[in-house]
Amino acid sequence: MTVRIVLGAQFGDEAKGKIADFLAGTARIVVRSGGGPNTGHTVVLPEGPVVLHQLACGVLRHGVTAISGPGMVLQPFKLEDELRALDERGLHRGEVVLSDRAHVILPAHELEDVWEDELRSQSDPAAALGTTKSGIGPAYADRYARWGIRLTDLSRPGALRERLGLLYATKSHLPGLPPLEEVVSRLAEVGGRLAPMIRPTEPILWDALARGESILLEGAQSALLDIDFGTYPYVTSSHPTSAGALVGSGIPPTELDEVIGVAKAYSTRVGAGPYPTEDTGERGEFLRRVGGERGATTGRARRCGWLDLVLLRYVARLNGLTSLAITKVDVLGGLDEIPVCVSYRMPDGTIVRDAPPTRADDLARAEPVYENLPGWPELHERAKERLRREGGAALPSALVRFLDFITQATDVPVRYVGYGAHRDETVDLGPTAPRARRSPLAAWSG
Ligand code: GDP
Ligand code: IMO
Ligand code: MG
Repeated sequence: MTVRIVLGAQFGDEAKGKIADFLAGTARIVVRSGGGPNTGHTVVLPEGPVVLHQLACGVLRHGVTAISGPGMVLQPFKLEDELRALDERGLHRGEVVLSDRAHVILPAHELEDVWEDELRSQSDPAAALGTTKSGIGPAYADRYARWGIRLTDLSRPGALRERLGLLYATKSHLPGLPPLEEVVSRLAEVGGRLAPMIRPTEPILWDALARGESILLEGAQSALLDIDFGTYPYVTSSHPTSAGALVGSGIPPTELDEVIGVAKAYSTRVGAGPYPTEDTGERGEFLRRVGGERGATTGRARRCGWLDLVLLRYVARLNGLTSLAITKVDVLGGLDEIPVCVSYRMPDGTIVRDAPPTRADDLARAEPVYENLPGWPELHERAKERLRREGGAALPSALVRFLDFITQATDVPVRYVGYGAHRDETVDLGPTAPRARRSPLAAWSG
């Protein structure tokens, strides 16, 4: 039995969906613990690609329970569409359970998300966050203000009307709000349709723990988008860290066995915010084209750049990573040299290796110091076939050195390597040695 967390170790879209799906093969339950329709997790099945937004990837496997957990904010109409699309393709295989504690994203939240980002850009165009406009920030804000609506409220129209009235009293600044009565009746209807799936999810998890069954927590967004530890204010409104996965599911920290951080062999970011290793030149364009770097939820072109080991070290410590999954190594195949950022030079000349600046504007001024590592050959179909057959033994030697370099820099072993979008294009290098003591932090400057 294991309890594992898979989480994003960069700015999102690291292929968490693919790695979580790979690991879901040995899990009884997969839990999403935060975020909502801002997520787009791609899994490429033999039947074709699937992009999951509000459902955990366990929905794609027979005999697995897919929980959308208490820490989430769910848009019930989009959720119905997502389920319907899976049903139509015959891909709804696992059992879906929705936490009765999860909060509801209302039409007001979607309007407010757009309104807020316009407000930010009125004062300064660079201040807009470029959110996914799915209502995430406002839904979490109302959750913490304690006038949010939870899935459990949908089955009690009287109480729902009362709570919605309270929430509406805070939204008079929003133009175009749909009438309260209309929202109550639509929510009550959708609540009725989803009712068979809505229930307390903590007892399901505690029972699984008691039975010794394996649980996988499928992180969404990424540690660098964490509301507290990310590049605030250019973050999402939840906690996509390992601690957040536990809070958002109801699994106690003492049950946790492994924390797997997923990072691309390069990096991407969607939306605004500091990104020291961004490459706005031809090579960035190369990454976007070859990596197919377009948002799975919004369709926006992703900003592209190089692997940032300062940020990865930070994420490793913040989350207690026990192993890394390095994905999309095929995208870099054929390059002579691969730049990897090993430290930052700050405007005052100091070198930062371990603790990135707290302020987004300071991070934006960090100048990456690169080391160029030797590249590996393109992974053509023959090379991929060998990887499928022989596993890690078939990894090109320059790629092995690249992975070792990451381990040296982060003190975290690389266990999984993604070399293609398909479900089976992941190498498991096998269990890693027990976690060594982490190296002490380098001096803040030097
Ligand atoms: P997530 O949000 O972290 O699950 O990632 P996304 O699904 O938003 O973006 C990852 C993209 O990369 C998707 O289009 C995947 O199909 C694709 N992908 C995943 N792993 C690999 C890989 O190892 N190689 C390549 N070339 N593509 C991959
Ligand atoms: P997955 O799970 C990439 C980004 C948005 C924006 C910021 C705030 O697929 O990795 P929000 O709508 O959450 O208020 O937007 O966070 N963002 C993501 N970027 N992948 C995601 O999810 C993201 N979820 C949010 O682009 O910059
Ligand atoms: Mg994504």
